[in-house]
Amino acid sequence: MSHNLLKGKRGIIFGALDERSIAWKVAQVAHAEGASFTLTNAPIALRMGEINKLAEECGAEVIPADATSVEDLENLITKSQEVLGGKLDFILHSIGMSPNVRKGRSYGDLNYDWMVKSLDVSAMSFHKVMQTAEKLDAMNEWGSILGLSYIAAQRSFPDYSDMAQAKAMLESIARSYGERFGRLKNVRVNTISQSPTMTTAGTGVGGFDVFYDYADKMSPLGNATAEDCANYCVMFFSDFTKKVTMQNLMHDGGFSSSGITDALIEDLKKAK
Ligand SMILES: NC(=O)c1ccc[n+]([C@@H]2O[C@H](COP(=O)([O-])OP(=O)(O)OC[C@H]3O[C@@H](n4cnc5c(N)ncnc54)[C@H](O)[C@@H]3O)[C@@H](O)[C@H]2O)c1
Repeated sequence: MSHNLLKGKRGIIFGALDERSIAWKVAQVAHAEGASFTLTNAPIALRMGEINKLAEECGAEVIPADATSVEDLENLITKSQEVLGGKLDFILHSIGMSPNVRKGRSYGDLNYDWMVKSLDVSAMSFHKVMQTAEKLDAMNEWGSILGLSYIAAQRSFPDYSDMAQAKAMLESIARSYGERFGRLKNVRVNTISQSPTMTTAGTGVGGFDVFYDYADKMSPLGNATAEDCANYCVMFFSDFTKKVTMQNLMHDGGFSSSGITDALIEDLKKAK
């Protein structure tokens, strides 16, 4: 059911790779809520062609951009304003990638060039997006910018490897740029810390099935799905969250505040 929460708002959505992507679901809900936006992804990801289905469904133009390239971002943000007919009200950064995770390197055997790549793609790109938007004066007053994070920024999850540092940096950038963009343009900047979710990036982490089930059992409301996350993101693009900024918002069914749950106690009793 639509509430027209984003009627008249314009934005850019990064990171829709396929139907499982969180950004894919955000695009569908944002479209249903009346937003117009452009879709973007790295040129290599666009070659799969999946995104064209989403673009058609949402009446959105696809503009390629490697989020680590300032030149690509300048082109994306300039063209998006032309296509959409004005400045932007929201941006979703839904990007993550670690070569060390992809290639199964253990945390005691990291390739440091790859670690720099993980940080650049997964965190520094968030700064690049905002700095480019600021320099091009592309954001409307009271706009909203979101990045997607994970609780490995605060707690250790062995197989998450250098992505934990990337998420810590992403959340820190949200605070620092949130202060700046708030002061300059009343633009809010937040990260949403999402439950484990069955996507390409998620399932690429070793032992994902196990910690997906663990998180589900540790969360009184169960894991938040990609659809739940999309609804939450759209609320953050709406005018109902105008004074929320520089926050890392836990969207995890209660996982981050749980010590232990009955579901886990039952499992552990059975295993005895
Ligand atoms: N899936 C989970 O369990 C989970 C949990 C918490 C947070 N997140 C975060 O949610 C976000 C979205 O991930 P997802 O789970 O939807 O997976 P996904 O694999 O569908 O999305 C990741 C996206 O990042 C894009 N990307 C990679 N390198 C890029 C680059 N250089 N330039 C532009 N785009 C690039 C990919 O093409 C892909 O579209 C990520 O930040 C991820 O870390 C995911």
